[in-house]
Amino acid sequence: MTDKLWGGRFAEDITQEVLDYTLTVDVDERLVFADLWQDLAHMLMLGVRGIVTGEVAQAVLGSLLRLWERAERGELRLRPELEDVHFNLEQQVIEELGRERGGHLQTARSRNDQVSTDTRMYLRRIQLDAVAANLDLIGELLAFPETDLLAILPGYTHSQAAQPISVAFWKSAHASMLLRDVRRLRGAFERTDECPLGACALAGTSFPLDRELTARLLGFGGVLSHALDATSARDYLIESAAAFAIGGNNLSRMAEEIVMWSGHEYRLVEVADAYATGSSIMPQKKNPVVAELARGRAGRTAGTLVQLLTMAKGVTLGYSCDLQEDKPYLWHAIDAYLSTLRIVAGQTRGLRFDGARGEQLCWDNFSTATELANHLVTAHGLPFREAHHVSGALVAALLKRGATLRDTAAAAEILGELGHPVDEPVLARLFAPAAAVSGYTSPGGTSPRSVTAVRAELSSAAEAH
Ligand code: ARG
Repeated sequence: MTDKLWGGRFAEDITQEVLDYTLTVDVDERLVFADLWQDLAHMLMLGVRGIVTGEVAQAVLGSLLRLWERAERGELRLRPELEDVHFNLEQQVIEELGRERGGHLQTARSRNDQVSTDTRMYLRRIQLDAVAANLDLIGELLAFPETDLLAILPGYTHSQAAQPISVAFWKSAHASMLLRDVRRLRGAFERTDECPLGACALAGTSFPLDRELTARLLGFGGVLSHALDATSARDYLIESAAAFAIGGNNLSRMAEEIVMWSGHEYRLVEVADAYATGSSIMPQKKNPVVAELARGRAGRTAGTLVQLLTMAKGVTLGYSCDLQEDKPYLWHAIDAYLSTLRIVAGQTRGLRFDGARGEQLCWDNFSTATELANHLVTAHGLPFREAHHVSGALVAALLKRGATLRDTAAAAEILGELGHPVDEPVLARLFAPAAAVSGYTSPGGTSPRSVTAVRAELSSAAEAH
């Protein structure tokens, strides 16, 4: 027999190498309070149901509360030789009370229902933290000043300037995406918030448990009834990892725009000095490192999702130790995602867009050619396909002359030659990027009116969370 809590059937102890390979105390540090809370709820229920005597329940609860206080003071050390948080806490209770009383704690419970209960409890808090951090960032994005409604940016498709948009339109687009991340996290929360405790090892137990009571004491929305499912399931955790990965991806796309648009070739935006660093050799550099890291760190959240899917796919129902590999990577993803959300909110507050530069790029890149096509439809009665063709021919002819849509005299002349004359002042109005932005009044469009409406819609949707 070894002195391990499970040592009854063993003649020999595990080697140090095996212990090092299997232990999870470092990872389990984050589960200490969840495990203690769970121990308290479980013991209370055992007492209420008369599965242990009132005297035992009282003694164990007292011991657990003392452990809680020690943990709060930062004095509770998890001992590696005890493998994981569950054995550590049970052992502490036994050391204080002796096996006579302390040995009752693990009645009608297994580490298999225990670990999933802990992880769900921890994850619930993270999901809500991530919701809150997303809402903060959404708040920053939607807090744009009125001037952003008319500050021009080129909107891109295929990395080519497509149509002018406003800075407010860009910011609210990211808010709109992030709001879906919030809903995804809420959905993941719903499926995480089910209590597996009382499933025991995999098959339930002959003890008369009250699973509703422990679920309620632990603040769960309900019980995850099926014992085999409750101990085996990791889809709740994979779903969370997916929500983190998708959220990380969305943040990365925003980061990519900021990195690219900060470069001299674009000069559309500048991050605040506090969110950039310099070069060790090139004195002129201002590198948007926070945005770059936000983009790079999305690799961790994506990697975690793939790791978890791969880890779980071959595990038959019931617990196998493969499942222990869920937490270290998930913790990495959580840290990467939450820290990115928070720092991006600060970075967003300090972004300085250059609307004049945006307008210049729109002019340079023919990004209002669609407006002429639309005008030929409404004022000349052309079918859109024909109008598109005329406008395209104008662009080709201007390009050949090295001109842009700024050259309304040349444009008027070319259109006359094409048989679709339009007056110069009309062209000047049609081609002005600011006028195009103001004119896109369709619901969800880039006009100040549409963006103001969409902001109100998004703000009230955010408030509902
Ligand atoms: N430390 C384990 C984990 O993280 C707890 C469950 C262990 N159960 C077992 N039968 N070995 O998954």
